[in-house]
Amino acid sequence: MAALTLSGKRVLLGVSAGVAAYKSALITRLLKQAGAEVRVVMTAGAEAFITPLTLQALSGEPVRTSLLDPDAEAGMGHIELARWGDVLLIAPATADLMAKLAHGFADDLLTTLCLASDAPRLIAPAMNQAMWRSPATQRNAATLIEDGWQQVGPDAGDQACGDTGFGRMSEPEAIVTAVEGCLALTPPAAGVDRPAGTRHVVITAGPTREALDPVRYLSKHVLSNRSSGKMGFALAAAALEQGAHVTLISGPVALATPPGAQRIDVASAAEMHREALRLAPEADVFVGCAAVSDYRAAEAAEHKLKKTADEATLTLTLEKNPDIIADVAGLEPARRPPVVAGFAAETRDVRRYAEDKLARKALDMIVANDVSAAGLGFGSDDNAAWLLWRTPEGSASEHQPPQPKTQLARTVIQRALALLPGRPDTRETP
Ligand code: C5P
Repeated sequence: MAALTLSGKRVLLGVSAGVAAYKSALITRLLKQAGAEVRVVMTAGAEAFITPLTLQALSGEPVRTSLLDPDAEAGMGHIELARWGDVLLIAPATADLMAKLAHGFADDLLTTLCLASDAPRLIAPAMNQAMWRSPATQRNAATLIEDGWQQVGPDAGDQACGDTGFGRMSEPEAIVTAVEGCLALTPPAAGVDRPAGTRHVVITAGPTREALDPVRYLSKHVLSNRSSGKMGFALAAAALEQGAHVTLISGPVALATPPGAQRIDVASAAEMHREALRLAPEADVFVGCAAVSDYRAAEAAEHKLKKTADEATLTLTLEKNPDIIADVAGLEPARRPPVVAGFAAETRDVRRYAEDKLARKALDMIVANDVSAAGLGFGSDDNAAWLLWRTPEGSASEHQPPQPKTQLARTVIQRALALLPGRPDTRETP
């Protein structure tokens, strides 16, 4: 990495006890090459995987391993060390460490620093795929995200234990990019101070919630659809990877914002519609990945609706929400993003319905998946899809076999960027 993207930045790197700890040496090196100062803190278990001496040699600073070390505390006390970092990175973060952090334990130096630091905090989980999928780890990951942690990875692939799946730590280069993103958590406003040629990708993600009363809501989940937001967030990460400026308009989800993305949180379809139309004229690519609730209550009650013992049914009047992506695609040419891409979830005739939707909503591209297949689509980590896009001659398509959403997201963003005017369209038309 030649560019000094982290010049003068101070990175506190926590290393916990996973096989991926050996990659912390490369992370340290890449951070240093990017101009950062690095101080490493290891858990006791991490020392079984990589020696402090290696990380000391690469960081050029003493490595701290113990909270109760009078000599080290006499140099830079743990609170001072916590304040020193501009960013706190934990790579690898084991399931055990995530559990401790989620519950506020401070029984060693690293966990204590995590509690004492006000800096942006980034975690790179690494563990066996079953451990990652376990409800306890997923709960802990969600808690950390709610607490403001950023998360990079884990990636899918082969694991040291012989399993295959999500749980591999992200590659060191991706982690360093995420650190850079973390330090630029508030990116410049759209159109300001962006290097010439940077593409702006605006993505809607997650579900929307339509208030029925102050405590209850209606969502697309109730009517037909479940959305975790994973695909939209994977698209944001992929667009960042490909050098774009990314704005993520997100409904309520328990997912970490990909470091570097500008996130705008919304609840209802009306709010998402307002933000989408505000940002669309500045976008090069607009991707509608949100599962927008098709209807909202015609009137949200001011007070909590009361259950009455003698009434077995409740009648609600619903009115249709605006079709966000159709309204973005229908903007006058000067304000319409050059590429508008939508999603379609179908259970049969996927390609035919997708073609209809491409035309009906005046989109440039559509990603259609078959949600009837087990283990694919809503809420899962994998997806298979048909990609359809417009060509001067009509339309073209390609099938993407089952694969991690992160991988499919990369393909979707590449295809969408390739549709931009002035970019060669290198794809094959079947
Ligand atoms: O019509 P349907 O909901 O199947 O279309 C799905 C596509 O349209 C997705 O891209 C979704 O984000 C978008 N959509 C929208 N606003 C709505 C409904 C769907 O942007 N009200």
